Amino acid sequence: MDKLLAGKTAIVTGASSGMGYDTALTLARSGAAVVITARRLDRLEKLAAEIAAQGGKALAVAGDAGLPEDIDRLLERALSWDEGGGKYDIVVVNAGRGLAGGILDSDEAQWQELYRTNVLGAAHLMRRAGQYLAGRKGGDIVVVGSVVGRNISPFSGFYGSSKFAVGALAEGLRREVCGQGVRVSLVMPGIVVSGFQKVAGYDEKNFGGSIAQFGKLLEPQAIADGIHWLLTLPPHVNVSEIMIRPTGQSAP
Ligand SMILES: NC(=O)c1ccc[n+]([C@@H]2O[C@H](COP(=O)([O-])OP(=O)(O)OC[C@H]3O[C@@H](n4cnc5c(N)ncnc54)[C@H](OP(=O)(O)O)[C@@H]3O)[C@@H](O)[C@H]2O)c1
Repeated sequence: MDKLLAGKTAIVTGASSGMGYDTALTLARSGAAVVITARRLDRLEKLAAEIAAQGGKALAVAGDAGLPEDIDRLLERALSWDEGGGKYDIVVVNAGRGLAGGILDSDEAQWQELYRTNVLGAAHLMRRAGQYLAGRKGGDIVVVGSVVGRNISPFSGFYGSSKFAVGALAEGLRREVCGQGVRVSLVMPGIVVSGFQKVAGYDEKNFGGSIAQFGKLLEPQAIADGIHWLLTLPPHVNVSEIMIRPTGQSAP
């Protein structure tokens, strides 16, 4: 693979599974030193070992993406990591979870936890990373939203609302930091087969049937490749939004 990200240090949240896992691996293969985080340390250590075996550099930091103190600790660990150069250039704000059902029938007991992770934690990380990168006069913040954060679906309306919020945060942040040379990009995936479906509570009845006609769904690598592409454009080119769907996904 190319080494276009050599010399860069990237923080990837939600790196224990799915898109975060493949993104961290892809950025590492492209030469970036990666700081990987999620709650499941065993999975992070497996990924760090895989990256090291391929000649890359990785630092695993366990933490909860919804807790400001864990986010601050993550950033401090990144800044004190010698192999990463004691700085970071790229932050991929990816950790998040879904929730099956709309406003009427999703499990209300999970609403606060979903917003804590998907919105408040993401906002705290965006703020801290935005302050730091604006001070350094450059860098990248990639935020993982969703197509349901642009086109609301009656089947995941509450979850979708959290991704609308994330999309607004990303564009608000972009307008605040673009003058300091910081790019902010919102990546909106369509249906990707990952750990997401199980965590959200999707099954054959509430999900499988409605997507059957979409054909082949995405692997997480498709999103990782998109993120790698936008990070390797010339620094004055900012792809501020991108949707990546399975070709056959007619809705949402
Ligand atoms: N799959 C889809 O169809 C789809 C479509 C559009 C957008 N998305 C979004 O894409 C992102 C990645 O999802 P995915 O499909 O790759 O799902 P996944 O395989 O379930 O991965 C989710 C990642 O987020 C981490 N995470 C979740 N809650 C966390 C918390 N409270 N603290 C720390 N880490 C947390 C998980 O790690 P731990 O459990 O180890 O903490 C895991 O690494 C999410 O923001 C999701 O909303 C997914």
